[in-house]
Amino acid sequence: MLSDGAVLLRPYKRGDARAWSEVRIANQAWLAPWESAPPGPWAEMNSPRAYGYVYRDMKRAARNGDSMPFAVCLAEDGRERLVGHVNLGNIVRRAFASAYAGYWVDHRVAGRGVIPTALALAVDHAFGPGGLHRIEVNIRPENGPSRRVVEKLGFREEAYHQRYMHIDGGWRDHLGYAMTSEEVAAEGGLLARWRRARTAK
Ligand SMILES: CC(C)(COP(=O)(O)OP(=O)(O)OC[C@H]1O[C@@H](n2cnc3c(N)ncnc32)[C@H](O)[C@@H]1OP(=O)(O)O)[C@@H](O)C(=O)NCCC(=O)NCCS
Repeated sequence: MLSDGAVLLRPYKRGDARAWSEVRIANQAWLAPWESAPPGPWAEMNSPRAYGYVYRDMKRAARNGDSMPFAVCLAEDGRERLVGHVNLGNIVRRAFASAYAGYWVDHRVAGRGVIPTALALAVDHAFGPGGLHRIEVNIRPENGPSRRVVEKLGFREEAYHQRYMHIDGGWRDHLGYAMTSEEVAAEGGLLARWRRARTAK
């Protein structure tokens, strides 16, 4: 488990089905423009039953070393609730040692810095025990909030990928951001950098 203040990252559990489904269904309009959707109606693809397949796939990918998926939770008022997701996927080892980050948060807790904190925790884990060297984040140019997340954390904008991913019914251009472990090592890690940036505001 990784945590900073009320933000907590942990592996998914089989018992997350109802909470995951509730938050995904409540956020259809918020998430659909930014995600590559599986074929099928949103309610069905995000039902507690569908979670069984999602869970199995995430566990398999994690076991194979292809990804590091985390449930993002908020620990408040004496309870912990699932409010989002961070995944380091497409992990390539050996001379690349790289991964792509993806994330989302419940619109009801947006704007509180939950995902920057969660992503910083995940990146520090990846650069430390995870043995990775480079994390990429690819974002649609029109996704202002997501661009703010990586800009606040100090990712470098380094690429423009045309018609990069099929999202919300079309092939969408993406901006490529990246960070390597050397860029944050001297600062005590990404979470330490993010904490300093927040207190400096
Ligand atoms: C992108 C996303 C994960 C950001 O998470 P977050 O925890 O809200 O991140 P932050 O609190 O740092 O807010 C980031 C920006 O969102 C914007 N924002 C703040 N409150 C907001 C709200 N209630 N609604 C919409 N946007 C808001 C602000 O521009 C903010 O930047 P600022 O800190 O410079 O003001 C979240 O907006 C989300 O889940 N969006 C839909 C899914 C998505 O886009 N995933 C990423 C695909 S690349």
